[in-house]
Amino acid sequence: PPTRVLVFGASLRGDSLNGRLASLVARLIERTGATVDLARMGEFAMPVYDADTEESEGLPRGALALRDRLAACDALVISSPEYNASVPGGLKNAIDWVSRVRPQPFKDKQALLVSASPSLVGGNRGLWALRIPLEHLGTRVYPDMFSLAQAHEGFTDSGDLADSGLGQRLTETVESFLRLVEADTRYACLQHR
Ligand code: FNR
Repeated sequence: PPTRVLVFGASLRGDSLNGRLASLVARLIERTGATVDLARMGEFAMPVYDADTEESEGLPRGALALRDRLAACDALVISSPEYNASVPGGLKNAIDWVSRVRPQPFKDKQALLVSASPSLVGGNRGLWALRIPLEHLGTRVYPDMFSLAQAHEGFTDSGDLADSGLGQRLTETVESFLRLVEADTRYACLQHR
Protein backbone atom coordinates (compact mmCIF):
# COMPACT_ATOMS: atom_id res chain seq x y z
CA PRO A 1 0.00 0.00 0.00
CA PRO A 2 1.17 3.57 -0.60
CA THR A 3 2.75 5.50 2.27
CA ARG A 4 0.18 7.68 4.06
CA VAL A 5 1.30 11.07 5.32
CA LEU A 6 -0.68 13.41 7.56
CA VAL A 7 0.20 17.00 6.60
CA PHE A 8 -0.88 19.32 9.40
CA GLY A 9 -1.15 23.09 9.07
CA ALA A 10 -0.87 24.27 12.66
CA SER A 11 -2.41 27.75 12.34
CA LEU A 12 -6.10 28.57 12.86
CA ARG A 13 -5.95 31.58 10.54
CA GLY A 14 -8.00 31.27 7.36
CA ASP A 15 -5.34 32.64 5.00
CA SER A 16 -2.49 31.03 6.97
CA LEU A 17 0.95 31.09 5.36
CA ASN A 18 1.57 27.73 7.02
CA GLY A 19 -1.67 26.45 5.49
CA ARG A 20 -0.28 27.43 2.08
CA LEU A 21 3.03 25.72 2.82
CA ALA A 22 1.19 22.61 4.02
CA SER A 23 -0.82 22.50 0.77
CA LEU A 24 2.39 22.80 -1.27
CA VAL A 25 4.09 20.04 0.71
CA ALA A 26 0.98 17.88 0.22
CA ARG A 27 1.26 18.31 -3.57
CA LEU A 28 4.98 17.45 -3.50
CA ILE A 29 4.23 14.30 -1.49
CA GLU A 30 1.42 13.21 -3.81
CA ARG A 31 3.77 13.57 -6.80
CA THR A 32 5.87 10.75 -5.32
CA GLY A 33 2.86 8.40 -5.26
CA ALA A 34 2.26 8.61 -1.51
CA THR A 35 -1.19 9.39 -0.09
CA VAL A 36 -1.82 12.62 1.83
CA ASP A 37 -4.32 13.50 4.53
CA LEU A 38 -4.26 17.32 4.67
CA ALA A 39 -5.43 18.61 8.05
CA ARG A 40 -5.79 22.05 9.59
CA MET A 41 -5.72 23.04 13.24
CA GLY A 42 -9.25 24.46 12.92
CA GLU A 43 -10.67 20.95 12.44
CA PHE A 44 -9.68 19.95 15.98
CA ALA A 45 -11.31 22.31 18.47
CA MET A 46 -10.31 21.57 22.07
CA PRO A 47 -10.18 23.48 25.35
CA VAL A 48 -6.95 24.28 27.16
CA TYR A 49 -5.71 21.10 28.83
CA ASP A 50 -7.09 20.56 32.33
CA ALA A 51 -6.55 17.32 34.24
CA ASP A 52 -9.90 17.79 36.01
CA THR A 53 -11.69 17.97 32.64
CA GLU A 54 -9.82 14.88 31.52
CA GLU A 55 -10.83 13.02 34.67
CA SER A 56 -14.51 13.96 34.48
CA GLU A 57 -15.08 13.98 30.72
CA GLY A 58 -12.16 12.17 29.14
CA LEU A 59 -10.54 13.60 26.04
CA PRO A 60 -12.31 16.28 23.98
CA ARG A 61 -13.66 15.17 20.63
CA GLY A 62 -11.11 17.31 18.75
CA ALA A 63 -8.19 15.58 20.43
CA LEU A 64 -9.63 12.13 19.69
CA ALA A 65 -10.18 13.11 16.07
CA LEU A 66 -6.55 14.24 15.78
CA ARG A 67 -5.44 11.00 17.44
CA ASP A 68 -7.40 9.00 14.85
CA ARG A 69 -5.91 10.92 11.93
CA LEU A 70 -2.38 10.48 13.37
CA ALA A 71 -2.83 6.79 14.04
CA ALA A 72 -4.00 6.22 10.46
CA CYS A 73 -0.81 7.61 8.89
CA ASP A 74 2.73 6.31 8.50
CA ALA A 75 4.33 9.73 8.91
CA LEU A 76 3.59 13.32 9.80
CA VAL A 77 4.50 16.75 8.41
CA ILE A 78 3.77 19.78 10.59
CA SER A 79 3.79 23.27 9.12
CA SER A 80 3.75 25.60 12.10
CA PRO A 81 4.02 29.31 12.77
CA GLU A 82 6.46 30.59 15.35
CA TYR A 83 4.92 32.61 18.19
CA ASN A 84 7.35 34.57 20.33
CA ALA A 85 10.25 32.39 19.23
CA SER A 86 8.45 29.20 20.26
CA VAL A 87 5.61 26.76 19.56
CA PRO A 88 2.13 28.36 19.23
CA GLY A 89 0.07 27.59 22.34
CA GLY A 90 -2.69 25.91 20.33
CA LEU A 91 -0.30 23.38 18.82
CA LYS A 92 1.37 22.63 22.15
CA ASN A 93 -2.09 22.22 23.71
CA ALA A 94 -3.11 19.75 20.99
CA ILE A 95 0.10 17.77 21.53
CA ASP A 96 -0.53 17.74 25.30
CA TRP A 97 -4.10 16.39 24.91
CA VAL A 98 -3.17 13.76 22.32
CA SER A 99 -0.19 12.63 24.41
CA ARG A 100 -2.70 11.37 27.03
CA VAL A 101 -4.03 8.65 24.69
CA ARG A 102 -2.75 5.07 24.83
CA PRO A 103 -1.19 3.81 22.68
CA GLN A 104 0.47 7.21 22.47
CA PRO A 105 0.27 8.02 18.74
CA PHE A 106 3.35 10.26 18.44
CA LYS A 107 5.62 7.39 19.49
CA ASP A 108 7.83 6.04 16.68
CA LYS A 109 6.13 8.29 14.12
CA GLN A 110 8.48 9.96 11.64
CA ALA A 111 7.93 13.70 11.35
CA LEU A 112 9.16 16.51 9.10
CA LEU A 113 8.88 20.05 10.47
CA VAL A 114 8.41 23.09 8.24
CA SER A 115 7.45 26.69 8.96
CA ALA A 116 6.52 29.92 7.23
CA SER A 117 6.71 33.43 8.59
CA PRO A 118 6.87 36.98 7.26
CA SER A 119 10.09 37.44 9.26
CA LEU A 120 13.63 36.98 7.98
CA VAL A 121 14.20 33.72 9.90
CA GLY A 122 10.98 32.08 8.73
CA GLY A 123 9.90 30.67 12.08
CA ASN A 124 12.87 28.35 12.47
CA ARG A 125 13.21 28.94 16.23
CA GLY A 126 9.65 27.69 16.68
CA LEU A 127 10.59 24.42 14.96
CA TRP A 128 13.56 23.90 17.28
CA ALA A 129 11.19 24.40 20.20
CA LEU A 130 8.68 21.98 18.64
CA ARG A 131 11.32 19.24 18.52
CA ILE A 132 11.41 19.12 22.33
CA PRO A 133 7.88 17.81 23.08
CA LEU A 134 7.83 15.64 19.94
CA GLU A 135 11.17 13.96 20.66
CA HIS A 136 10.10 13.55 24.28
CA LEU A 137 7.09 11.60 22.98
CA GLY A 138 9.29 9.34 20.85
CA THR A 139 8.58 10.98 17.51
CA ARG A 140 11.48 10.54 15.12
CA VAL A 141 11.89 14.11 13.98
CA TYR A 142 13.74 14.38 10.67
CA PRO A 143 17.09 16.18 11.16
CA ASP A 144 16.54 18.58 8.26
CA MET A 145 13.83 21.24 8.50
CA PHE A 146 12.53 23.90 6.12
CA SER A 147 11.63 27.46 7.05
CA LEU A 148 10.23 29.94 4.56
CA ALA A 149 11.27 33.51 5.39
CA GLN A 150 9.31 36.53 4.10
CA ALA A 151 6.55 34.07 3.38
CA HIS A 152 3.96 36.79 2.74
CA GLU A 153 5.85 37.40 -0.53
CA GLY A 154 7.02 33.82 -0.96
CA PHE A 155 4.23 32.15 -2.92
CA THR A 156 3.12 32.42 -6.54
CA ASP A 157 -0.60 32.61 -7.38
CA SER A 158 -0.57 28.89 -8.10
CA GLY A 159 0.82 28.14 -4.63
CA ASP A 160 4.40 27.30 -5.59
CA LEU A 161 7.41 29.01 -4.04
CA ALA A 162 8.33 32.20 -5.87
CA ASP A 163 12.06 31.46 -5.47
CA SER A 164 12.84 28.41 -7.61
CA GLY A 165 16.02 27.62 -5.67
CA LEU A 166 14.03 27.45 -2.45
CA GLY A 167 11.38 25.40 -4.24
CA GLN A 168 14.07 22.93 -5.23
CA ARG A 169 15.34 22.81 -1.62
CA LEU A 170 11.85 22.09 -0.31
CA THR A 171 11.27 19.36 -2.92
CA GLU A 172 14.57 17.68 -2.03
CA THR A 173 13.83 17.85 1.70
CA VAL A 174 10.36 16.34 1.25
CA GLU A 175 11.63 13.61 -1.09
CA SER A 176 14.53 12.59 1.15
CA PHE A 177 12.17 12.48 4.15
CA LEU A 178 9.79 10.22 2.20
CA ARG A 179 12.61 7.89 1.16
CA LEU A 180 13.44 7.38 4.84
CA VAL A 181 9.77 6.81 5.73
CA GLU A 182 9.35 4.30 2.92
CA ALA A 183 12.52 2.40 3.83
CA ASP A 184 11.28 2.22 7.42
CA THR A 185 7.79 1.05 6.39
CA ARG A 186 9.27 -1.68 4.15
CA TYR A 187 11.53 -2.83 6.97
CA ALA A 188 8.56 -3.04 9.37
CA CYS A 189 6.63 -5.12 6.77
CA LEU A 190 9.57 -7.54 6.41
CA GLN A 191 9.76 -7.96 10.18
CA HIS A 192 6.07 -8.80 10.45
CA ARG A 193 6.14 -11.44 7.72
C1 FNR B 1 3.92 36.18 15.69
N1 FNR B 1 4.74 36.17 14.58
C2 FNR B 1 6.06 35.80 14.72
N2 FNR B 1 6.85 35.57 13.61
C3 FNR B 1 8.12 35.17 13.77
O1 FNR B 1 8.80 34.93 12.78
N3 FNR B 1 8.69 35.03 15.01
C4 FNR B 1 7.97 35.25 16.13
O2 FNR B 1 8.48 35.09 17.22
C5 FNR B 1 6.61 35.64 16.01
N4 FNR B 1 5.83 35.84 17.11
C6 FNR B 1 4.48 36.02 16.98
C7 FNR B 1 3.66 36.03 18.10
C8 FNR B 1 2.30 36.13 17.97
C9 FNR B 1 1.43 36.08 19.20
C10 FNR B 1 1.72 36.28 16.68
C11 FNR B 1 0.23 36.39 16.53
C12 FNR B 1 2.52 36.31 15.58
C13 FNR B 1 4.20 36.46 13.24
C14 FNR B 1 3.74 35.21 12.55
O3 FNR B 1 4.85 34.57 11.96
C15 FNR B 1 2.73 35.56 11.47
O4 FNR B 1 1.57 36.07 12.10
C16 FNR B 1 2.39 34.39 10.59
O5 FNR B 1 1.62 34.85 9.51
C17 FNR B 1 1.63 33.32 11.38
O6 FNR B 1 1.50 32.15 10.62
P1 FNR B 1 0.19 31.86 9.76
O7 FNR B 1 -1.01 32.04 10.65
O8 FNR B 1 0.19 32.81 8.61
O9 FNR B 1 0.37 30.43 9.31
